[in-house]
Amino acid sequence: MAAVPDAFYITTPIYYVNDVPHIGHAYTTLACDVMARFHRLDGKRVMFLTGTDEHGQKVEKSAQAAGMDPLVFCDKVSRNFRDLSSLLGFSNNDFIRTTEERHTVACQALWRAVIASGNNDIYLGKYAGWYSVRDEAFYGEDELIESPKGKLAPSGAPVEWVEEPSYFFRLSAWRDRLLAYYDSHPDFILPAARRNEVVSFVKSGLRDLSLSRTSFKWGIPVPDAPGHIMYVWFDALTNYVTAVGYPDTGTASFKTFWPALHVVGKDILRFHAVYWPAFLMAAGVEPPARVFAHGWWTIEGQKMSKSLGNFIAPSALVGKYGLDAVRYFLMRELPFGADGDYSHRAMVGRLNGDLANDLGNLVQRVLSFVAKNCGAKVPSPGTLTTDDDRLLDASETLLDRARALIDRQELHLVLEEIWRVIGDANRYVDAQAPWALRKSDPLRMATVLYVLAETIRRIAILVQPFMPTAAGRILDQLAVPGDRRTFTALVDAPALVPGVALPKPEGVFPRYVEAAA
Ligand code: MSP
Repeated sequence: MAAVPDAFYITTPIYYVNDVPHIGHAYTTLACDVMARFHRLDGKRVMFLTGTDEHGQKVEKSAQAAGMDPLVFCDKVSRNFRDLSSLLGFSNNDFIRTTEERHTVACQALWRAVIASGNNDIYLGKYAGWYSVRDEAFYGEDELIESPKGKLAPSGAPVEWVEEPSYFFRLSAWRDRLLAYYDSHPDFILPAARRNEVVSFVKSGLRDLSLSRTSFKWGIPVPDAPGHIMYVWFDALTNYVTAVGYPDTGTASFKTFWPALHVVGKDILRFHAVYWPAFLMAAGVEPPARVFAHGWWTIEGQKMSKSLGNFIAPSALVGKYGLDAVRYFLMRELPFGADGDYSHRAMVGRLNGDLANDLGNLVQRVLSFVAKNCGAKVPSPGTLTTDDDRLLDASETLLDRARALIDRQELHLVLEEIWRVIGDANRYVDAQAPWALRKSDPLRMATVLYVLAETIRRIAILVQPFMPTAAGRILDQLAVPGDRRTFTALVDAPALVPGVALPKPEGVFPRYVEAAA
């Protein structure tokens, strides 16, 4: 997912600046953070981008309603999204705002590059049709839903009739080239079911796309066309190349990182998988490496909506359950790509089950036993049995399985695989019963504990992308130095060094106890 094999470029959508961040936004960025961290630990150079989408009629209207200049308004509200990074431990390398000068330069250059290609992909016409400010999208008459309140977009957003001069992008001419591209890049859109939806949409024929507006001002001016502002999606999508230096495609950063992996919600897949590659190809720029569309969260069985007032602020979740538990839950509860439901019950189930019981107990019982019975030092193993080898193999081969899954964005399956080994380790503790060996066979006891501590070390290294803080605390308790926490260190000798002093163990995942009513 980058031009060179040891690099990785991942992006989140840029968020509409006038929304208040909720767990839907946090989810997309979290998934990208997990992948960014995974690849960094795997020794890659990573570029992880997020940011805010600040132009368009919707923002202009919100600024007006707040009685503020649009840029002052954006400066204020974009901070809500920037603050999410520190709250949720996101490790983005850059935070782009579409109101930045570098972005204006990139958008205008991309527009000019489409014109310069000489294929007449952009032409001047007149737009007469339906527009939804909420979705910032144009709709055909046949796509609208009749309702007592008037016509609505398929998303349920109101639409208005717009008539104005407009530049168009000749999307209709891109049908066959897009289909050929999807055909020759079978994993360009994932998951496969979403890919099929996009392919049939494109097969059914594409309408030219209105690419500029003249009835409002808050946006990037079309070059050499006074009064025309770029369509907000042309502007927004371009952020992905702005951040790596476009229009200067000769910079080290563009040459290293482009093309990117774009992670988006299913609602905005069409913009990314149809419009965006067409714009780029028309401008002579390589399309993205992949567009992965994830599903949507409902809250306690209901759609999140302003009118229901059931928006969940990420800060409320973190305050209640802790950062690591929230990160784990969001990544584990749904297959990445599918829709699913957030509920307090499900969250507590994961926290007390997977975290406190499975991982937390394993670490706690092994490390406190070592502290008491091995002089608080890494035990010295004797000869390994087949049971020992089996458990060590399971944790060693985990890395390759995780890599293969991460390459297809199957994040939940990475956790499933790790937890399978945690289950093996817990069964191994019960079967080997080190407490029963204390007097009868102290060498065997030390071997069993060494195998367990080494398994925990490997598990903790692999858990880092998902729960950086908790994994770090487990590695601290095993006295693993900071520079021995990468994936290379996971499989390389030396593993845990016998005799190294260990700090006093302490619980990493406290159980969640319901407050008394
Ligand atoms: N500004 C555009 C994206 C431009 S990218 C060039 C936009 N912004 S958004 O703020 O409305 O949405 C950003 C992301 O949040 C989308 O990927 C969307 O799918 C995601 N989510 C919003 N609500 C969500 C849920 N309830 N569940 C999961 N993700 C959701 O679209």
